[in-house]
Amino acid sequence: MGSSVSSCYRGSDNLKEYVPIARNNSSWRVFTYQELYKATNGFNEDNKLGEEGSGSVYRGETIDGLQIAVKKLKAMNSKVEMEFAVEVEVLGRVHHKNLLGLRGYCAGTDQRLIVYDYMPNLSLLSHLHGKFANELQLDWQRRMNIAIGCAEGLLYLHDEVTPHIIHRNIKASNVLLDSNFEPVVAGLKIAKLIPDGVDQITTRVKGSLGYLAPEYAVWGKVSRSCDVYSFGILLLELVTGRKTIEKLPGGIKIRTIIEWAEPFIVNERFKDLVDPKLRGNFNENQLKQVINIATLCAHVEPEKRPNMKEVVNLLKGDETVGKLLQMRMEGIKCEEDPMALDKANDGVSHYEEEDSNGYNMLVP
Ligand SMILES: Nc1ncnc2c1ncn2[C@@H]1O[C@H](COP(=O)(O)OP(=O)(O)OP(=O)(O)O)[C@@H](O)[C@H]1O
Ligand SMILES: [Mg+2]
Repeated sequence: MGSSVSSCYRGSDNLKEYVPIARNNSSWRVFTYQELYKATNGFNEDNKLGEEGSGSVYRGETIDGLQIAVKKLKAMNSKVEMEFAVEVEVLGRVHHKNLLGLRGYCAGTDQRLIVYDYMPNLSLLSHLHGKFANELQLDWQRRMNIAIGCAEGLLYLHDEVTPHIIHRNIKASNVLLDSNFEPVVAGLKIAKLIPDGVDQITTRVKGSLGYLAPEYAVWGKVSRSCDVYSFGILLLELVTGRKTIEKLPGGIKIRTIIEWAEPFIVNERFKDLVDPKLRGNFNENQLKQVINIATLCAHVEPEKRPNMKEVVNLLKGDETVGKLLQMRMEGIKCEEDPMALDKANDGVSHYEEEDSNGYNMLVP
């Protein structure tokens, strides 16, 4: 049991040797498979909250009445094993009101399960595009609160915890909502701990289409500003209620949320961007500010993006976007000149890293 974890993970070919070591007593513990089986009614379909490539998440209740969400990872392989190890390792280190904490885990011979607190209002995705999409529980005030909370969670990961952490998978399904619609950022399975003094890592591309920063998607360059970019896309999604990628009629071409929003932003038609489900109930000044912040965050050049401290201050209205704003927001453009981006990254401390698992693009 403990509030932080260190792992003695010895490689993906040696599954039984992953032994998380508890450091001190507090908020999480090791669960048995039987306990979690019982809590989720035998991993019943009715308890299923969601599913993605490597596993499914089930709602459950422990015998002492704790509401939990259990992620049951699918077939054991090196990728699953690595994601489990990373998530437990990272979750054990983070303690912030806007980050989903670790309740525990179960690491049997051939099972890997992670236990979290259950978030009764599920994910932001379910409110914007999923099962609650017609209920309008997310009014303007709640959306602004979600934006600030997520930004604070990210700021904590980037600057306040040591070693610093890059999330790499900021997206609407990884923003969960508690009973008061306070946001908690989840989904740390592909997070990167960044060694001291290192600002940028080159690695294989993982993350979710629609949210990937161009320099990361094209050249695998990961830095904190990749999360800033994804956060900018998330802000646009939150305000507009649109999906980050949509299929155009005919089904062959796709359009990113940036491509959709850009003409409105350039012509300062901010009101036309707002989610129609809000029926005009929003604060116009906040709207302009948020769109401008999203624009800055999703800047094509990483060094022109603000850091999360600046984003938090901007969102809280402690700073105005003012001169900072430069209208050059673009999505991934394949004709981009790689040399130009390389030059832009000069002076950034950097090292190359080889991930043990393969190229992994998750579709939102
Ligand atoms: N603690 C939780 N409380 C309530 N619902 C949760 C919780 N954790 C996950 N979920 C639900 O389960 C769904 C699936 O989560 P999961 O993280 O496995 O997939 P994902 O977010 O779509 O993809 P990724 O693995 O890339 O993060 C989420 O969208 C969310 O609705
Ligand atoms: Mg997730």
